[in-house]
Amino acid sequence: MWSLNYRVLASALWLAATTKATSGGLSVHITVAEGLLQNRTDGHVLVLFAPAEVDPLDDTDVESSPDQFLGKNVYQFGGGDTVTVRDSDNVQPRTGVSGFPDASITGVTAGSYRVQAFLNVYETVTRSDGSTVSVRFPCGDGMEPVNGPGSLTTQAIDVEVSQGSETIELTFDSVTTVDDFEGSEIGGCSQGNYADTEMLKYVKIRSDVLSEFWNRDMYVGATVLLPSGYDASDAITRYPVIYHQDHWSGGSGAYGYSRDEEFKAAWDSGILPNTTDQPTPKLILVTFRHESPFYDDSYAVNTANIGPYGDAINDELIPYIDGRFNTIAQAYARIQDGGSTGGWESAANLVFRPDLFGACFSSYPDSLDFHHHQDIPLYTAKNAYTRDDGSKITSIREVVNGTLTDVVSVEQENHWELTFGTSSRSALQWDVWNAVFGVQGLNNYPLEPWDKVTGEIFPDAVEYWKAFDLTDYIISNWDSGQRNLGEALRGRMFVYVGSWDNYFLNEGVEAFRDRVSARGGPDWANVTVLEGEQHGGNYRRLDTWDYFQLVAGWIEDHSPKGKMPLSKEATAPSTRGNTWKEVIARGGHGAALARQAHPVIKKNGHGRTVEASVGRWDPGLALEAQWLVDGRPSGKPFKVQQGTSLDYMPCRKRPVELEVTGRKRGYVDETRKSNAVRL
Ligand SMILES: *[C@@H]1O[C@H](CO)[C@@H](O)[C@H](O)[C@H]1NC(C)=O
Ligand SMILES: *[C@@H]1O[C@H](CO)[C@@H](O)[C@H](O)[C@H]1NC(C)=O
Ligand SMILES: *[C@@H]1O[C@H](CO)[C@@H](O)[C@H](O)[C@H]1NC(C)=O
Ligand SMILES: *[C@@H]1O[C@H](CO)[C@@H](O)[C@H](O)[C@H]1NC(C)=O
Repeated sequence: MWSLNYRVLASALWLAATTKATSGGLSVHITVAEGLLQNRTDGHVLVLFAPAEVDPLDDTDVESSPDQFLGKNVYQFGGGDTVTVRDSDNVQPRTGVSGFPDASITGVTAGSYRVQAFLNVYETVTRSDGSTVSVRFPCGDGMEPVNGPGSLTTQAIDVEVSQGSETIELTFDSVTTVDDFEGSEIGGCSQGNYADTEMLKYVKIRSDVLSEFWNRDMYVGATVLLPSGYDASDAITRYPVIYHQDHWSGGSGAYGYSRDEEFKAAWDSGILPNTTDQPTPKLILVTFRHESPFYDDSYAVNTANIGPYGDAINDELIPYIDGRFNTIAQAYARIQDGGSTGGWESAANLVFRPDLFGACFSSYPDSLDFHHHQDIPLYTAKNAYTRDDGSKITSIREVVNGTLTDVVSVEQENHWELTFGTSSRSALQWDVWNAVFGVQGLNNYPLEPWDKVTGEIFPDAVEYWKAFDLTDYIISNWDSGQRNLGEALRGRMFVYVGSWDNYFLNEGVEAFRDRVSARGGPDWANVTVLEGEQHGGNYRRLDTWDYFQLVAGWIEDHSPKGKMPLSKEATAPSTRGNTWKEVIARGGHGAALARQAHPVIKKNGHGRTVEASVGRWDPGLALEAQWLVDGRPSGKPFKVQQGTSLDYMPCRKRPVELEVTGRKRGYVDETRKSNAVRL
């Protein structure tokens, strides 16, 4: 069994952490031990306040509501610098400071705490489309939001906080490393590094397409579970493959092979559990290792913010797997499955690549239809956190004494994420959706669908998500003549969800079912909603072996000699979607630049007034305009809405211009000036 054990290197130079009285409430000062940080770096500092005697790292969960923790971006942070976190640093765009559950350090009330700080060290890279971002690259940790390898840490210290003014002094004195990898795969710790066992084989390749995009070496890996009796030198026997999409599973095989004794015993022996002679279905089970700078996995498709992971996995890694193992390298024998994130990934991979895969068995997938992004009516709502009647939208619900009970709101969860990282860099759920479904903003980070602090939805940003709204995509390409998904995907999508899904994912599944069956009839997709079931388990809550038998049956039926072979048309190259070329053209840096425009000013027909447009800006920028006459401000600056045009009657014969300043959280303020016009 694989487990991630962090080894914290104690530095010889650590300085004792102390508190001392100062004026102006509680502040935290953090310095760096000499020699620890060689180069200046961008990054994100987290200060965790846990109850006395509790490891601060055990007190960050949104559901258990941590005591208090605070996040703050640092830029070009170096050896002699101090990070200060104090009350005046509230949630605001400049500093990027935020906290949870309270927005600021004033949430730390008098009492005893165990306090520790961490610095997520970012690497600044310029990607192939010209966008520069600062992000952390994971190293076999599955993109931990805090304390991943390479992070700087302070000691955890016990602190008494009084009502008065005081300063907590901390020193970054260690670097977190990960040291329990046993393998000798290429790429070091990237995607983990594991040694083969008899049944589990680890493969990892340097991805050309990802390395080109990220302008550094990037790897993707797979963990391949072979069936009993597998013989590498057998030139005849070939096996179907289940490509099991999942979260970061380290070195564990699909379906928890390394963790589930009974499953492992049956798989290895090739005999179904509790029988003496019934053989297990013979399949190869593959799970991918694709931790990325935005999440524990890439979502396995091509996206403008995370890169061409779909191509890296499907066009680089799978051919490599087909070359090394005795697979049936044909669509009918390649199955996509998974639950939750993996549910969406498996559905998306079939929908985008009918040419490559045969069917998907997708369980409780992330929203299949963004009319219901969890419980948010994303296309129609004004706010992602609050309904029109003022009630809060729930993100997590649980069954308490037989009743579904709201546990965490969308607002709470988003504010919690914001503490871990700004500009969608928390490596947590809502942020990775922003990165996967959204395009790049002009600031190079995901163009967020709503303001992370207020929840205000930006419909123009949401519009870009439609390319990843799988229901919208299927309906839009139903009988286009090229992809023809109405025919190509018929009978190939199997989706399961429980009606009590803890994240409301049943809503997106039901919308998908209703829309595709309205178009293609009730059998077009096979959708099961099990009454009263929650999030989790195998497809249709089947026993694992019954499930494998179901899948093996589908493969047999759809093989060239089966009852209903997959047609050539259904797997034609033309059915392919989500091509990297279209994704980056629509969502990359070039597209972000192309949708901007300067204010433009022109004379009105009668020649007595001028008319000005405010220019085009990214969704969510608040604009302030200022008329200039002779290059000097005339009148007061005033707020303007995007898309409006302004009239002005200037003094004749003086050149008039319009200056517009745009501001948005996570963006650098920008002022754009129009052309000059003289009446
Ligand atoms: C610091 O920067 C130098 C020069 O750019 C580079 O060679 C070195 O690898 C960097 N060190 C670390 C720890 O990143
Ligand atoms: C096999 O039998 C054991 C012991 O009775 C039981 O716990 C287990 O659930 C059974 N497994 C299957 C797959 O039926
Ligand atoms: C659940 O029911 C039990 C027994 O009626 C009760 O003691 C308990 O407080 C209930 N829990 C909650 C969270 O309502
Ligand atoms: C849907 O698929 C399941 C197997 O997953 C099968 O038992 C069921 O009959 C199918 N339903 C329809 C309507 O074809």
